[in-house]
Amino acid sequence: MPGTCVVGLQWGDEAKGKIVDLLGDGFDLVVRYNGGANAGHTVVVNGKSFKLSLLPTGVIRPNVTSVIGNGVVVYPPRFIEEMESLAKGGIDLAGKLFVSDHAHVIFPYHMEEERVLESGTEGKIGTTGRGIGPCYQDKVGRRFAIRVGELLRPEHLRERLKFIVPHKNKVLAALSSSAKAFDADQLAAEYGAYADRLRPFVRDTALYLHDALKSNKRFIFEAAQGSLLDVDHGTFPFVTSSSSLPSGIWGGTGVPAKFVHRIIGVVKAYTSRVGQGPFPTELDDGPDGLGERIRKIGREYGTVTGRPRRVGWLDAVAVRHTAALSGADEITIMLLDVLSGLPELKICTGYELDGERIGYFPSDAYLLERVKPVYETVPGWSEDITKARSLSDLPAAARQYIDRVAELVGLKVSVVSVGPDREQTIMV
Ligand code: IMP
Repeated sequence: MPGTCVVGLQWGDEAKGKIVDLLGDGFDLVVRYNGGANAGHTVVVNGKSFKLSLLPTGVIRPNVTSVIGNGVVVYPPRFIEEMESLAKGGIDLAGKLFVSDHAHVIFPYHMEEERVLESGTEGKIGTTGRGIGPCYQDKVGRRFAIRVGELLRPEHLRERLKFIVPHKNKVLAALSSSAKAFDADQLAAEYGAYADRLRPFVRDTALYLHDALKSNKRFIFEAAQGSLLDVDHGTFPFVTSSSSLPSGIWGGTGVPAKFVHRIIGVVKAYTSRVGQGPFPTELDDGPDGLGERIRKIGREYGTVTGRPRRVGWLDAVAVRHTAALSGADEITIMLLDVLSGLPELKICTGYELDGERIGYFPSDAYLLERVKPVYETVPGWSEDITKARSLSDLPAAARQYIDRVAELVGLKVSVVSVGPDREQTIMV
């Protein structure tokens, strides 16, 4: 059985990239199945750091082929920019990176629509502003969507844009008198030029992956965002527009679920969230509070937008729920070192909804915003744990914390991360 999925069990930014990196050379292909350039990660190769948001983290591995599946939405300038920055750093992706001809394309009118909708006072989702939602809306609506394969046929592309752009301009003008208007010929020329750069990378990746399955290649499926941002099972409507749970793999790549044999659920030792939406364990306690301290130590600022992330205690109710939804076989606990120096820690073990104790996670955002977390308080530790390399190097309180999280989630812990470097890892 060839497939491993690495999936975040909170609201994203759980340090999934580090887990993909730790899986090392034990795989041949890394495949993204959802999202777009809204998933920021920084990868370091030979002391040089690269900021990626669209290409999978696996692109930096010399013997790995990276695939952007049909479930991803692609913004071509970003694709080219990331590819070029890697090329400048000595990483040549020719023959090592493929993008699905079925993936949908993000145009500037998608971003403009998002900008207009997000600048209103109501209905704000707190998106990354990368045009993700409007592009997926067009995909599902069908009429006004363009796929990567269509970019490669200049006349066809021009015709499609001639039909789509006037409609977009009408909608934009109706939404806001200050919205930008777009020109179909100009966009056709611009995207035609991108297409020339993209052409060598484009193929029917489902067919490519089926061939890879036949030759027993080993896969990593890299989820973007976290399970609580999944469009079906997350805290709707404050979610992203794709299936970030492993359920997105089949639809987003064409690889059937039966080929995914291991699902690694990545969990931050606390919780973070960017954008709007309920967050029961949020530490919203001002500039001198614990929340700000964790944000600073954990460097909790968005990679894509630079926004400060909201932070709070670990929510075991939420993680137990997403572990079940994702089919996780194990969990990894990330950024444990960020909690060092706190006299005591809290773990959310239940909720109260309208005065009654509930043991489940209400993923309906409007219910979730009414719950009050029920906490268990556990002792903290004062020691620096960044040099710990085995569980026995950790203070007893840190070990207790790990054990308690494992018990509450109901899964074994396979990795504990105590710092950003590859070496700062405890394999359990
Ligand atoms: P969108 O994906 O840009 O539409 O944003 C929808 C929601 O998902 C917003 O709350 C974003 O902040 C959040 N989001 C999108 N991508 C990420 C990510 O990679 N990490 C954390 N949050 C994200």
